Formats: sequence, structure tokens, C-alpha cells
Amino acid sequence: MIIGVDSEPSASTTRSSLRLHRESDLERLVSIYSRPDVARFLLEEPWTLESGAAHLQRRLARTGLDGPSGSLALAVEREGTLIGAVSVWRTEQEPRTVEVGWTLDPAHGGNGYATEAVAAVLDLAFERHDAHRAVAQMDARNEASARLASRLGMRREAHFRSDFWSKGEWTDTVVFAVLASERTPS
Ligand SMILES: CC(C)(COP(=O)(O)OP(=O)(O)OC[C@H]1O[C@@H](n2cnc3c(N)ncnc32)[C@H](O)[C@@H]1OP(=O)(O)O)[C@@H](O)C(=O)NCCC(=O)NCCS
Repeated sequence: MIIGVDSEPSASTTRSSLRLHRESDLERLVSIYSRPDVARFLLEEPWTLESGAAHLQRRLARTGLDGPSGSLALAVEREGTLIGAVSVWRTEQEPRTVEVGWTLDPAHGGNGYATEAVAAVLDLAFERHDAHRAVAQMDARNEASARLASRLGMRREAHFRSDFWSKGEWTDTVVFAVLASERTPS
């Protein structure tokens, strides 16, 4: 379900809510993104308090797909606790193609919270921001993420061999995508 998009970008699922990031999210975000198991397949190294502060500043500026940043970074909250984050941004090659990224605190994993949160963000992009296509890219070894994309009805469209240098090694990238015309709103 999407609520309050025009004023304060936010959304909700039946079990959690999504809102813009706040300065006060730093400690929780660092506690999640500093974990090696969380950072393993992300582009960045595990966060420290210092690097996390810089990441958070960038997220604080990502307040809307139709704003100057062309991107929206949302915190996923459940019962008042930040449990994850979902971002969506317009791609450089085609603004009506959006890319989406996600992370969930492993302590809350295995319950479908990330799937629900990303579904709400896709609804937002397709229904309120005229997105035509949504893509997600991930390390080919990131099976949990691939399962999440599949659960959302995203199609595995590409597998690039050894195309990205990540954390000291060449890695494969897989690309998932779904079109607005293919998706049933959650
Ligand atoms: C990718 C990531 C978000 C997936 O987390 P997750 O807990 O598997 O995702 P969800 O919260 O959607 O939970 C789905 C799991 O819960 C299960 N589940 C239980 N109840 C469920 C429900 N009501 N609805 C949906 N799934 C449910 C699903 O079967 C699924 O398990 P499975 O994949 O073993 O089959 C998480 O591994 C992560 O944050 N990784 C680190 C960061 C990262 O790599 N991000 C992606 C970069 S591309």
C-alpha cells in the first residue's frame, strides 16, 4: 500500500512501514551494514561509524524519484525499529527504468519483510512515478537476493561473467527485471 507519497514519501506493508531516512538512523544502520555477512555482496565495504555517516548523508538527499536526486532511499521500520532499507533510483540511460536495491537486518530475515518492503517500493515507482521497467542487479552468488527478486515476479534477464571487481576478486553479476505491464500490484 502506498501512502503520503506527494508530501512525505512513505509506504507501508501489512507488517512494516517505509519512511525517509533520518540523522538518528546512523547507529542502527551501522549495526546492520558493518556486519561482514550483510556487506559481502554489497558494492561497499562493511560500514564504520565514519563511512556510515557519509552513506547516510547521501541517503538523506535521496528524497524522491521526481526530485533533483531522481532517487528515493527509504528505511524499513517494524514496531518502531529500523530493520532494513530499500532504495530506488532512475537510471542514467532511461529515466523510466528504475533500479532498486535492498538490505535487511539478518536478525529479521526469513519472514518476508524484505520482499514486502520492495514490493511496496515497486508499487510506488510503477503507480505513482510512471516507471516502465524496474531492474535489480546483484552478485551472482547472492542467492537470497535472487530468490527475493524472483518472488517479486522479476525475470532473470542476464548473467555477466566476471564483469565486476569486488572486494579483491572478479565477480559475476546477474540482472533481474520486471515491466510495469507485467506486474500485479501487491
Ligand atoms: C537479500 C536479503 C534482503 C534477503 O533477506 P530475506 O530474509 O531472505 O528476505 P525476506 O525478508 O523477503 O524473507 C524471505 C524469506 O522468508 C521466507 N518467508 C517466511 N515467511 C514469509 C512470508 N510471509 N512472505 C514471504 N517470505 C516468507 C521466504 O520463504 C524466504 O526464505 P527463502 O529465501 O529461504 O525461501 C538479505 O539476505 C540481505 O539483506 N542480504 C544482505 C544485503 C544484500 O545482499 N542485499 C542485496 C544486494 S543486491
